[in-house]
Amino acid sequence: LTMAVSAIVLTATVNTASAACEEGEIVIKFSHVTNSDKHPKGIAASLLAERVNEEMNGKACMEVYPNSTLYNDDQVLEAMLQGDVQLAAPSLSKFEAFTKQFRIFDLPFMFKNMDAVDAFQMSETGQAMKESMVRRGLLGLDFWHNGMKQFSANKPLIEPSDAAGLKFRVQPSDVLVAQMQALGASPQPMAFSEVYGALQQGVVDGQENTWSNIYGKKFFEVQDGTTETNHGVLDYLVVTNVDWWEGLDADVRDQLATIMHEVTATRNAAVGEVDAEARQAVLDAGGEIRELTAEQRQAWVDAMKPVWSQFEADVGAENIAAAQEINA
Ligand code: LMR
Repeated sequence: LTMAVSAIVLTATVNTASAACEEGEIVIKFSHVTNSDKHPKGIAASLLAERVNEEMNGKACMEVYPNSTLYNDDQVLEAMLQGDVQLAAPSLSKFEAFTKQFRIFDLPFMFKNMDAVDAFQMSETGQAMKESMVRRGLLGLDFWHNGMKQFSANKPLIEPSDAAGLKFRVQPSDVLVAQMQALGASPQPMAFSEVYGALQQGVVDGQENTWSNIYGKKFFEVQDGTTETNHGVLDYLVVTNVDWWEGLDADVRDQLATIMHEVTATRNAAVGEVDAEARQAVLDAGGEIRELTAEQRQAWVDAMKPVWSQFEADVGAENIAAAQEINA
């Protein structure tokens, strides 16, 4: 009986991850940490799986594991190198152990909006970044967008000095640590799956994230409010294991890459819409959103922008200049 019950549980788990794989198909596990609905990454991963399972039926099948059900972001890249998962899309802040190039995306106020991020990534420099970790066993396939980050805390944040002395959860990135220190706050690197509980229990006072993450994981429920600072970028790189990718038959690899590029183009173009919907959903659910005047926002720029000089050597002064030219 126990065996029968666990078999049922197992089937149920696989089904929620999506299509059951048939014998002979290449199994592609895609592990990520966010929710699936009203979320740029969740929607893109589901669309990717839907298309792979339909168009590559008999050759390959994809199972998506959202909400950190398979791995946290701090485990998934190791699991990928072990061959336990084939695709993931960690935020660019989570590749510190593999490359310092992505630090440019974490620098506060580096990009004025997602169009600027897109243009930078599409440049020769941006495209070359996808191959910056090949030596370490990881290949970037495409950048996926999320949005601009906002600050929330257990008290109103209007002036930068309001953040001083507070503990903020950050992603595990030295740039984000430095950014919070520039505000006189105490940065606490932590896995995404632990943030809600940490905010609720007062382990940390605040956090920074995009509207889709603030809505998707209900951070607004355990915060005083969210201040619309648009101070930084949260974006993703879809990555795979170099050996696995190169081991695929050329036709399978090409078809998968083509579907990936098409899904990327479609969903990246729709990211502003998903972001706006999530922002509205926070309001509809009773979340408080505080907007800043131009003058108030400038005070945050003045407080955080000095962080650039600390990381100029890592990201390259020429890349900072290129990003600023795109903003202009
Ligand atoms: C975070 O850890 O806050 C984000 O990277 C989560 C995500 O994948 O959007």
